[in-house]
Amino acid sequence: MSTEHLAAILPSKGGPLSVEPRPTPTPGPNELLIEVNSIALNPIDYNMRDKGFMIASYPAVVGSDIAGTVISTGSSVPSDAPQVGTRVAAFAPCFLKRGAPDYGAFQKKVLVPSANAVPLPDQVSFNEAALLPMAVQTTWAGWYSMGIPCDMTFKAGPNQGMLIWGGASSVGSTAIQTAHLLGFKVYATASTKHHDYLKNLGAKRIFDYKDENVIASIVKAVREDQVALYLGYDAVGALQPCEEVLKRLNGDGTKLVTTVPLRADSPKIAGVDTVFVAAPADEVQRTEFSRFVFGEWLQGKLATGAFKPCPGLRVVEGGFEGLDRGLDELRKGVSGVKLVVEV
Ligand SMILES: NC(=O)c1ccc[n+]([C@@H]2O[C@H](COP(=O)([O-])OP(=O)(O)OC[C@H]3O[C@@H](n4cnc5c(N)ncnc54)[C@H](OP(=O)(O)O)[C@@H]3O)[C@@H](O)[C@H]2O)c1
Repeated sequence: MSTEHLAAILPSKGGPLSVEPRPTPTPGPNELLIEVNSIALNPIDYNMRDKGFMIASYPAVVGSDIAGTVISTGSSVPSDAPQVGTRVAAFAPCFLKRGAPDYGAFQKKVLVPSANAVPLPDQVSFNEAALLPMAVQTTWAGWYSMGIPCDMTFKAGPNQGMLIWGGASSVGSTAIQTAHLLGFKVYATASTKHHDYLKNLGAKRIFDYKDENVIASIVKAVREDQVALYLGYDAVGALQPCEEVLKRLNGDGTKLVTTVPLRADSPKIAGVDTVFVAAPADEVQRTEFSRFVFGEWLQGKLATGAFKPCPGLRVVEGGFEGLDRGLDELRKGVSGVKLVVEV
């Protein structure tokens, strides 16, 4: 096996990335070494590149979403985890490892904990698979933060609703599918052009977030449908309208999770318990959480076709050399697509 591979290294805060060879690591006891075919881009990637967010030292390698093939396994990888030769999508632990070069997605060979990988059915391409890890992990971190159990038998009550703001985003579209599969009646927001697509993913009703009456329209629809909606998932940092919907419908006793960190000056409506999405902090519990999310829930839903990679995808040309351009484009904003780089 070659002892070096190509990587897009972040030499210092602000970048640009530098494509060069680096030593190929050997997996630790519970790790997989994955040969990468596709990388999907996330907002945290340009925050790490541009602001040094969560980076302990340089040079670093950033990136979280990969799809490829397992080429080597550590000595204690469980027998039910993906083995050598298995096509997988995997959540590279770049920010937990604070940019440590062996663990970032932006390279041809990446180390990941075995619990962070999901085997892929043949019909899911590497490009589609790369859309999955960050979005599915963040969505389930939201359900976990709400108190929804990591349990394949969980089913929402027959008339229980879920508000999802930012349904066309990577996280939001994943939250729509997941909430629908968990049995919730999903009320979501997105630009009108995405409404049909998001209904197909399982949303019951969709509203245009740019409509000045959007809050009143959601409240009216939920009441008409006689749905109990006291849980919300803010995928894009739209706290104020989410809190307003939950407050108007219920008064107190509601729960909102948000993907965007809360600040002292974040909007706050009394009676709505708003928390930042968070997977378990304890390492053992987090490993068990990831094993459930990827090795049990997602593996099962991909195998049956119940869950499909979403939203759309667009390939950024140029392989590793295209990563900086892709991150710049993502920072400007995308609509209903995730950017993917083939390497
Ligand atoms: N905490 C975590 O662990 C974590 C993990 C992943 C992501 N995040 C954060 O979550 C956010 C979403 O990430 P992502 O990758 O899913 O984003 P994304 O796919 O790049 O989001 C783009 C979409 O956001 C929608 N959008 C933007 N502003 C909106 C608004 N005010 N109301 C409704 N929709 C709006 C747009 O919808 P239209 O096309 O309909 O206009 C667009 O399609 C980012 O802030 C990211 O940093 C946090």
